Amino acid sequence: PKPIIMDCDPGHDDAIAIFLAAGSPEVDIQAITTVSGNARIEHTTKNALIVAEMAGLRNVPVAEGAGEPLVRTAVTAPHIHGETGLEGPELPEPEKIVEGQHGVDLTAELLLHAEEPITLVPTGPLTNIAWLLKRYPGVKKNIKDIVLMGGGSYGNWTPAAEFNIYADPEAARIVFESGLPVTMAGLDLTHQALAGDEEKEFLRGAGTKAAAFTAELLDYFAGTYRSLFGFFAAPLHDACAAAFSINENVFSTEHLPVNVETSGTYTMGMTVIDSLQTTGKAPNVHVARDLNNDVFWSMLKKALERLP
Ligand code: BDR
Ligand code: CA
Repeated sequence: PKPIIMDCDPGHDDAIAIFLAAGSPEVDIQAITTVSGNARIEHTTKNALIVAEMAGLRNVPVAEGAGEPLVRTAVTAPHIHGETGLEGPELPEPEKIVEGQHGVDLTAELLLHAEEPITLVPTGPLTNIAWLLKRYPGVKKNIKDIVLMGGGSYGNWTPAAEFNIYADPEAARIVFESGLPVTMAGLDLTHQALAGDEEKEFLRGAGTKAAAFTAELLDYFAGTYRSLFGFFAAPLHDACAAAFSINENVFSTEHLPVNVETSGTYTMGMTVIDSLQTTGKAPNVHVARDLNNDVFWSMLKKALERLP
């Protein structure tokens, strides 16, 4: 199986991304690291422990990462994910305990000792990945690629900026300019992965505890998306990035120049996609385009069937 490291801020859709990867034999999760994002770091770490335990990832280390963005103060999204980041289902107290090592150090150590290059799957603000690249430049050669959820041609936090990029644009810029292969599952793509009632029942049909938990997550998540954005379904943003790390046929991509705006009166945190190649710059990002819904939903259901 292909080694991956998941860096996340669970987060309803982060939790589902973990379930998807945990139940997919094509990938081997080497570690889960956490970052401040949807909720404060103590919450996202606890949630990652709960979700990893529910996914049966007994031997996969969970390590806490950055609690603050590189240069800004943290923003959180309680109106979308609730105060704890994972509101809705009743949450068990995790038995699993967090590693003593910082998430960035653990990732660096895994990369330095890797037998084959590892794919990084960040589904929160990119703070940890930026720290990793700055503090441990030697690990780059052992990073196969970075498949992230973030950005897009429009925003959900501001008209121009998607939450993960807005929350730490300086970090995002470091990642986008790293020279590493980056695949960006932005909002244009993730808003095609809509879990409505039909999809929710389809997933529940997997019949496992993880499937029932997923359905409860979706009830809450769809509720906030309905009241905030008028959506009739919940977009499974982060699960799209996880899905691509498992199977590259799940969505199409276009290789384009992309810059991250770190200032700007109206556009801070925007991913500026040069779709018509006006800059003449070399492409640096594989921008996600069209989702194959059949592949996506069946991957997710099969994964949930394999979990406890
Ligand atoms: C992203 O922000 C968070 O709310 C989600 O977990 C996802 O990673 C969507 O903009
Ligand atoms: Ca997330």
